[in-house]
Amino acid sequence: MDFPTWMSAIQQRAESALDAVLPAPTFAPARLHDAMRYATLGGGKRVRPLLCHAAGAVFKADEKVLDTAGIAVELIHAYSLVHDDLPCMDDDVLRRGKPTCHVEFDEATALLVGDALQTLAFQTLSNHLPGISPARQLDMLHLLATASGSRGMAGGQAIDLAAVGQTLTVGELEFMHIHKTGALIRAAVLLGAHCGEATPEQLERLGHYANRAGLLFQVVDDILDAEASTATLGKTAGKDAAQNKPTYVNILGAAEAKRMAAELRQEAHDALAGFGDAAERLHQLTDFIVERSF
Ligand code: IPE
Ligand code: IPE
Ligand code: MG
Ligand code: MG
Ligand code: MG
Repeated sequence: MDFPTWMSAIQQRAESALDAVLPAPTFAPARLHDAMRYATLGGGKRVRPLLCHAAGAVFKADEKVLDTAGIAVELIHAYSLVHDDLPCMDDDVLRRGKPTCHVEFDEATALLVGDALQTLAFQTLSNHLPGISPARQLDMLHLLATASGSRGMAGGQAIDLAAVGQTLTVGELEFMHIHKTGALIRAAVLLGAHCGEATPEQLERLGHYANRAGLLFQVVDDILDAEASTATLGKTAGKDAAQNKPTYVNILGAAEAKRMAAELRQEAHDALAGFGDAAERLHQLTDFIVERSF
């Protein structure tokens, strides 16, 4: 199967799996369920479910189990976007080509959407996972919780807010990016590997890959924010400069940011070397992360 066909198949699987776990708007409270579905379905590249499937494919993991693990990360990601867009954070009005959740609904609803999507992620990952031992499933829940919290994504978002108007060193910038974005990318890869019963040594090597890929993902996000159009991105372009956010582009300049992206891309590929052809999808996704237009 060629990469675009595989990618759209996984994106469709993610969409149906998300649709199945999100409560129908016929359940009360209808408005909250409507807003949760609005923020989660029908948009996004689904990079985290894709990474989960690609890492699982290294070990021929069960695809249904990978769907569950992949959407658990996607639910956390969707919640992080809803909160990231709130007026108290990035104050954005456009997300995935549509009005942001708090614009379409209201701020209180958007706050609750984030809360409810976050707990739905853990509810989903704690469902029975055929073939996965209870001990491994606990490890997976622990991994997702750590990646989402103050030592992971939420912590990275706190650093991002505190950094507005500051001049960060490249090391501080890397620390911020590894947390706000890298943590969930890493969780997606490692959860996929857990679904395939990866050994601790294999998890460590994939963790190294994911650290590079996660940082790469946010460096490219910074470049796209500076260079792509709002229409292409489906979110407001030029926000980082307008809000005085330290990014790779405004700290290092666009040319150096692109050189860094090329270096991280190579390091990510190199980290997969020991897995041979089994890591083909991870290699392809690494290229996609750099070459994507939004
Ligand atoms: C955007 O993530 C926010 C970051 C963590 C950089 P994505 O670029 O994965 O957003 P969607 O899910 O495709 O909309
Ligand atoms: C968002 O980073 C990271 C998280 C949502 C955790 P950005 O603020 O750069 O994401 P965009 O550009 O709004 O998608
Ligand atoms: Mg932000
Ligand atoms: Mg933002
Ligand atoms: Mg951004």
